[in-house]
Amino acid sequence: MPAGLSGASPPNAASRPSAASPLAAAAPPAAGFTADWLGQRVVFADGALDRLPAEVGALGARRVLFIAGLAGAAPARAAALLGDRLAARWDDVRQHVPADLAVAVATEARRVRANAVVSLGGGSATGLAKICALQTGLPVVAVPTTYAGSEMTPVWGRTDGAVKQTGRDPRVLPKSVIYDPRLLTGLPPEFAGTSAMNALAHCVEALYAPAADPLTSLSALEAARLIAAALPVIMAPGASSGPARPAGTAVASPAGTGPDTAAQAGRALLWAACLAGRSFGTAGGSLHHSLCHLLGGQAGLPHAQTHAIVLPHVVAFLSAAIEPQLGRLAAVLGTDPTDVAGALWDLGAAAGSPAGLRALGLPASDLPAIAAALAERQPASPRPLSAADALAVVTAAWRGERPAPLSPALGDGQPGRIGQPGPDPGTCPQPGPDPQPEADPQPMSAAGLSAAVIDRLQQTPDPRLREVLTSLVMHLHGFVAEVRLSQDEWLAAVRFLTATGQICSDRRQEFILLSDTLGVSMLVDLLAGPSGSGSAGFATESTVLGPFYVPGSPERGYGASIAERPSGEPAWITGRVTDLDGRPIADATLDVWQNADDMLYAVQNTDAPQDNLRGLFRTRADGSFAFLGVRPTDYPIPDDGPVGRLLASTGRHPWRPAHIHVIVSAPGYRTVATHIFDSGSRYLASDAVFAVKSSLIRDFERHEPGGTAAVPEGVPPGAAWYSLRQDFLLSPVAAESGD
Ligand code: BEZ
Ligand code: FE
Repeated sequence: MPAGLSGASPPNAASRPSAASPLAAAAPPAAGFTADWLGQRVVFADGALDRLPAEVGALGARRVLFIAGLAGAAPARAAALLGDRLAARWDDVRQHVPADLAVAVATEARRVRANAVVSLGGGSATGLAKICALQTGLPVVAVPTTYAGSEMTPVWGRTDGAVKQTGRDPRVLPKSVIYDPRLLTGLPPEFAGTSAMNALAHCVEALYAPAADPLTSLSALEAARLIAAALPVIMAPGASSGPARPAGTAVASPAGTGPDTAAQAGRALLWAACLAGRSFGTAGGSLHHSLCHLLGGQAGLPHAQTHAIVLPHVVAFLSAAIEPQLGRLAAVLGTDPTDVAGALWDLGAAAGSPAGLRALGLPASDLPAIAAALAERQPASPRPLSAADALAVVTAAWRGERPAPLSPALGDGQPGRIGQPGPDPGTCPQPGPDPQPEADPQPMSAAGLSAAVIDRLQQTPDPRLREVLTSLVMHLHGFVAEVRLSQDEWLAAVRFLTATGQICSDRRQEFILLSDTLGVSMLVDLLAGPSGSGSAGFATESTVLGPFYVPGSPERGYGASIAERPSGEPAWITGRVTDLDGRPIADATLDVWQNADDMLYAVQNTDAPQDNLRGLFRTRADGSFAFLGVRPTDYPIPDDGPVGRLLASTGRHPWRPAHIHVIVSAPGYRTVATHIFDSGSRYLASDAVFAVKSSLIRDFERHEPGGTAAVPEGVPPGAAWYSLRQDFLLSPVAAESGD
C-alpha cells in the first residue's frame, strides 16, 4: 500500500519491534558531516509560468535564447511572455545531447548575442540549456515539464559518438527554476509514470551516493514517499497528471488511501521531482546513474524508461551494503525492508515501465560489453563491483524480473541488518568478514548463479582462457535465459550434441559440419581479417576448411593428374604463387582436394582409392604450378546425421556450390586455406555453409576435342576438357603481425 498523500504514517520498518529507533537511523552521524548546499531560486505555483518575465528580468537579461523542443501552447505562451527579450527560439532538442547539437546551440547563443538561456521541456531541453551554459557561461532559467529533476542539479551530460560524458559544474545549475504544475496537464500516463520513476531513482541514489548528508537524505525520503503515494493515483484509469482537471474531480486512490485528485497527485509529483533532483544534485550519483548513462550513450536507450527498469536491480545488488538507507526507504515506501527492490519493481510496473531492457530492444549480445564498460568505470558504489557483478546486474535488468526478497536473517553475508543502525547515511561501507558464512544460504537467483559461475572462472591462470570462458558463460547463460529454455529443450540439446559426437569417426567430422552450417567457421574466418594487399593486388582470401581435409596427400609432380580413376571431366588448373607485389614464391606447396562426379570425396567413398582427387604440389622457381583435376560438381554436405536433420527441420537445403579446395603455404607467408568456386554453380548464393567469397569465383573454360589449345597430358583422347587459371597471392607473416 502506498503512503497516503494526507501524511498518514504507513506501516514501516521503524514501527516494528525489531527495527532501529527513528533517531538512530535519521540523526546526523557522530562523525558529523560536511555539505555543499546549492544556492538556487525556485518558484513553485500553479500558473508560475506567468512569472517568467520577472525571473529573467531579475537576472538582468535582455536577450534570451529560448530552448523548447515541443510545439504547443506552453512554448508559445512562454515565447509571448518573453516578448522583446526573445532573441531566438531553438527547437532542435535530442536525448543525451549529441556533441554536434552542443556546438550548434552555443554557436546560436553567441550569434544572437544572448545573455540568458531559458529552457522549457523535459530533461533533454534542460540538458541542452546546461551544455549551452557550460560553453558560454550564460545563466539558465529552467521551466520543467516532466519529473526529470535535472533542473535542480549542476550535472551536465553530452554524447560523443557512443560515449556519454557527464560532469559537474556550478555554471550549469539553473539560476532560477519555475515549476508550474499546470504545464504537466495531460502528460500521457505512461510518460508521466516512467518520468516519475526517473525521479524516484534520484531519491534512491541520493541516499547512498558519496556526498549524501542528512538534508539530502531527508528530502530524498520525502520525495520517495510522495512518488510512491502519487504514482498509483496518476496511473489510475481516467487520471491525467497535472492539476488542470476541474477542481475536486477525484480519482479513487488504490487501497483506501482516500480520494486523492489527479491534480494533487501531479502537484505532489512535481514537488517530489524538485526535491529528488535537489537531493541528487548535492549527493552525487553512484552505480545506478553510471549504468543508465552507459546504456544511454552506448546503446542509445531512452533515459526515463532505462532508469525505471534498472533501479530495482541496482538496489537488489546493493541491498546488503545499504541496509540502513533501505530501512528508511522501506518506511516511506510502506514496504518490508527485505523487499525494497521488489517494491521499486512494483512501482515501475504500475508506472507502465517496460519489462526489462530487452523490451527496449537491447540485444543480449550487447550485455558483456556494457558490463565490461561498467566494471571498468568503477563508479562510486557502496558495494565493490567486480566484472561478474556488473554482468549479473546488467543481465538482471535486461531480463527485467522482479528481484527476490532478501532473507531477513542474513543480509547477504554483509555487515549490518536492515532497519538497524548502520554506517553514516551516504557513506560507502566496505564489506567486512562474513559473520555467519555457513548460515542460511541465499535463495538462488538466475543472475546470481551466472555471477557465481563467472566468479569461479576468475581463478583460471591463463588470461586468454579466462577471457574466453568468461565470455562463453556470459553468452550461454544469456541465451538460456533469453529463450527461457525448458527442461525438455535442454535435454533435446544434450541428445543432439551426444548424437553429433557419436557419429564422428576418423572419416566423418560432424562437429565441423555443425560449426559450418551455423556460420561459426566463416565467422572465425572473417574475424581473422583481410590479409593485406600490395602492388599486385589483394592477398588470396580464405574460406572454410571443411570436414573432408585429410593431411598427408601424396606429393605429385608439376602438371600431374590427381584423378587415380575416372572421376569426371578433366580440368587443367594452372597459375602462379606470388607475394603481394607479384614476386614469384618458389617451392610453395599447394595441398589440393576435390570431389568426384559422384559428388563424393575419397574419404567418404570406401570404394575409391584413398588418394583419389588429392595431391600436394610444389611451385617451380617462377612460382608456377599445374595439375589436372576434374570439373567439380555441386554436392550436398552429409545430411544423414544430426546436422542434416537440423537443416531439414529449419527448411534449409544441404547443397554446396562446386569447388576445388587448396591450402597454399610457403615459409614466411601466411598459409591460406581456400576454394576455387565454379562460376557455373547454382548454389553460389545459398551455400549451406556460407563460404562463398566473390573473389574466389572462377570460370572454367571448355575445350572441345580437336580444338586449337594444346591438350594437357592425362586428358583421354577425344574427350572434352576444361582449363582455368588461378594465381595465389600470399601475405608475409611479418606484415600481418605488424612487425
Ligand atoms: C567442404 O567443402 O568440403 C565442406 C565444407 C563444409 C561442410 C561440408 C563440406
Ligand atoms: Fe568441399
